[in-house]
Amino acid sequence: MKLWAGRASGDINPALEAFNRSIGFDARMVKEDIQGSLAHAAMLGECGIISKEDAKMIETGLHSISADLANGSLAIDPSAEDVHTFVEAELTRRIGGAGKRLHTGRSRNDQVAADLRLYTKSALSALREQLKGLLETLDARIEGHRATVMPGYTHLQRAQPVTLALHLGAWHEMLARDCSRMEDAIRRMDECPLGAGALAGTTYPIDRTMTASVLGFARPCANTMDAVSDRDFVLETLSALSILMTHLSRMAEEVILWCSSEFGFAALPDAFATGSSIMPQKKNPDICELVRGKSGRVFGHLMGTLAMMKGLPLAYNKDMQEDKEALFDALDTVSACLEAFTPMMAAIVFNKDRMRAAAAEGFLNATDCADYLVKKGLPFREAYGIAGALVRDCAERGETLETLSIGEYRKHSVLFNEDIYELLNLENCVKRRGLL
Ligand code: ARG
Repeated sequence: MKLWAGRASGDINPALEAFNRSIGFDARMVKEDIQGSLAHAAMLGECGIISKEDAKMIETGLHSISADLANGSLAIDPSAEDVHTFVEAELTRRIGGAGKRLHTGRSRNDQVAADLRLYTKSALSALREQLKGLLETLDARIEGHRATVMPGYTHLQRAQPVTLALHLGAWHEMLARDCSRMEDAIRRMDECPLGAGALAGTTYPIDRTMTASVLGFARPCANTMDAVSDRDFVLETLSALSILMTHLSRMAEEVILWCSSEFGFAALPDAFATGSSIMPQKKNPDICELVRGKSGRVFGHLMGTLAMMKGLPLAYNKDMQEDKEALFDALDTVSACLEAFTPMMAAIVFNKDRMRAAAAEGFLNATDCADYLVKKGLPFREAYGIAGALVRDCAERGETLETLSIGEYRKHSVLFNEDIYELLNLENCVKRRGLL
């Protein structure tokens, strides 16, 4: 008989039983489930809803389950319906009658919501720490490349000279916002659903503030129906992770480009690249490609969960059992990506000479040339026209703005003097922008 076989008689259809089961994936919340039950039982004892002796027996029983799971003498029963029924049944098997009192004033609806919030809070905190590791790695790389001049791009066309520190600094900003998005999400999900019961609270004189604080939540959820029926904290987590993955994916794409022979701006040490089974010369940036590829998978989990939630009437619906695989896989995927990406970012070798040479080709200082004329009194639009004509001239003669003679410059405008060469120097261009 099922633990929830209230009005039912007879056994459930085996096909439904298998279909219904979530133990295969929610077993990973066993620690949180036991933690939640410990807090709930302590509160029941404290409030006189169950006896102190029963509360103590439940506590001892739950601790013994934890210990046996940890030392391997107890295995999760794969035929249990879910982690909550598994723990409760195992507890009752161990301590008898007192175990049957654990579920007083509680429903699996507030239980699963509490477990999942606890799990998500701690998993997100761990991910945020991992992300901070990547931010620190980037900090170090930025420091080493404050004076490395490279082309900055728009439309993937060389645009203006920048420094590698500015480029890496942009990555850093993106990821720092991801960190703060995670912190926001953690703050908002920091409310305890326990005590919401199935949906309408409970008639027992429970102390929701006590359970919330024992579990490390800031406060109990304000509304019992909301507490059991929303998974916006899952959606918010998946959104934050999806945005993070767009950032990692864009960084990965740039590393892939930079490592191509066409760019040659960077190279990956052998430990971070793979070879080809047929082409002996190949060195492939697999880590980056996988990070780029796995972003799609995380977005998929966000989309799937949004679609799963959007039509649900209040309060709990079994549809919500589908939140877990999506969330867990997204958390695992992002963690694996960070684990591979961070040491790779520490090890990637930048080719300063190639970057400097690329910045010297393609008239990246043409804007500075126009600005030179503006500073001498010309309206920008006219200065822009003259600089454009100069670029055309240079391109036709196979010259650059740095090599063109002053005589040629003065044919375009008498405002040009010898100081134009100093001004066009790429290091000076980035310096004037405060980048060096
Ligand atoms: N395994 C369920 C889930 O993940 C637990 C909650 C079950 N509640 C219920 N009323 N059937 O959502």
